[in-house]
Amino acid sequence: MTPAGIRDRKRSGEKIAALTAYDYPLAKMLDEAGVPFLLVGDSLGMVVLGYPDTTLVTMADMEHHVRAVARAKPQALVVADLPFGTYDTVAEAVVNARRLVAAGAEAVKAEGGRSILPQVQAILAAGIPYCGHLGMLPQHVREEGGYHIKGRTETEREALLADAQALADAGAFAVVLEIITPPVAKEITASVPIPTIGIGSGPDCDGQILVTFDLVGLFPWFTPRFVKPRANCAADIQHAVSAWKAALTAPVAK
Ligand code: KIV
Repeated sequence: MTPAGIRDRKRSGEKIAALTAYDYPLAKMLDEAGVPFLLVGDSLGMVVLGYPDTTLVTMADMEHHVRAVARAKPQALVVADLPFGTYDTVAEAVVNARRLVAAGAEAVKAEGGRSILPQVQAILAAGIPYCGHLGMLPQHVREEGGYHIKGRTETEREALLADAQALADAGAFAVVLEIITPPVAKEITASVPIPTIGIGSGPDCDGQILVTFDLVGLFPWFTPRFVKPRANCAADIQHAVSAWKAALTAPVAK
């Protein structure tokens, strides 16, 4: 899969199924299941590394996980998140996007619209495919004091539409819409020429993305309201481990 292949889904109408992958086995499993878009998301900071939010994720964390995913040599497009504080300036954005590409990413994603447009333009000018991310921006959780739905006010709606258009005009091949009111996500989807990939933003986006651990019940301590887990992997692991331990420690009849 290529960025152009993802972008073309807007025209063909085939929904984009996107998931996060953080390591070799998960990347291989998702790829074998035919998922065309693998995001090495900075959500790995929370569900793999145990950080309280994504703002503590470093470039070294991201590079480590991007390398592991890239070793699976997936058919899917591998997109990697630029972590918090690594694209504050144009120069930092390009240097760090190049580091993710050197680790094996085929495209990068960062959070924001017009506020980071010079960085987006510079990344694209450096020849690195770019995916946008609008709506609730987890890297802003500390300044915003929580994870809040976006698009509820007319000001937010207009800003989101303008940001999405600016990213499309800059040359982004897709844009993630996170926790935006479904009518506004639908309106953005109808108004931009690139695919929208929603998460908690209703059914009317061109694709959907989830944190894989949420989808398969591998992080049972918190599941977002909009996710319906399709498996209970954490419980399966605990049952398997308990059964193995019980067999190992059971008294042997002499
Ligand atoms: O980091 C991540 O996993 C993401 C998705 C939730 C879109 O950015």
